[in-house]
Amino acid sequence: MAEVNMVGLGLGAALTLVAVALHFSKGTGWSPTTDISQELLERRAAAVPETDFPEPMNRAIGGGGGGVAAGAVAGGEEGAELEEGGEAEAESGPWDVPDDEAETFEVEFVKEGETIELAENETILEQGEDQGWDLPYACRQGQCVSCAGQVQDGPAEEYVVHNDQQMLDDNELDEGYTLTCVAYPKSSFSIETGEAP
Ligand code: FES
Repeated sequence: MAEVNMVGLGLGAALTLVAVALHFSKGTGWSPTTDISQELLERRAAAVPETDFPEPMNRAIGGGGGGVAAGAVAGGEEGAELEEGGEAEAESGPWDVPDDEAETFEVEFVKEGETIELAENETILEQGEDQGWDLPYACRQGQCVSCAGQVQDGPAEEYVVHNDQQMLDDNELDEGYTLTCVAYPKSSFSIETGEAP
């Protein structure tokens, strides 16, 4: 029995060695696979230039889509600009007058104790600041009342032109209140600065 076992063991060992040898020989036998993948890569590489407008076209399509979207946005912006332009045209006024053609008016600043010449194409606030006066303001766009003043001679809009003031109602305007940051003189008058309704 022992002899049979030894023979069996010997055979087993021999078979194992063969299997191991086959395993390694198989392992080395896979090396051609690498060549195949290289071939595939080469074929793919060769295929790219053969295609008509291969990737660049795709990018163009993608880019075109983006371009359309961008165009749409740009169109929207242009539309907005056109609308703004339309509004700007509707809001033309003394602020468009060139400096050398601008009329001037005598305006008394009661609290500052001075009467100065104000041009029709600049705001009361700006021209007051040009004198070095520390006049109140915040938004400078007619959207608060920080810069408000009161014309002493009558309804504000008989003496100034407002460029899009959004805060004063008709009664306040009639009482002489004005937003000096968007008010352009159109006559001579007296004004108290720092007076809000
Ligand atoms: S500073 Fe705001 S309305 Fe003139």
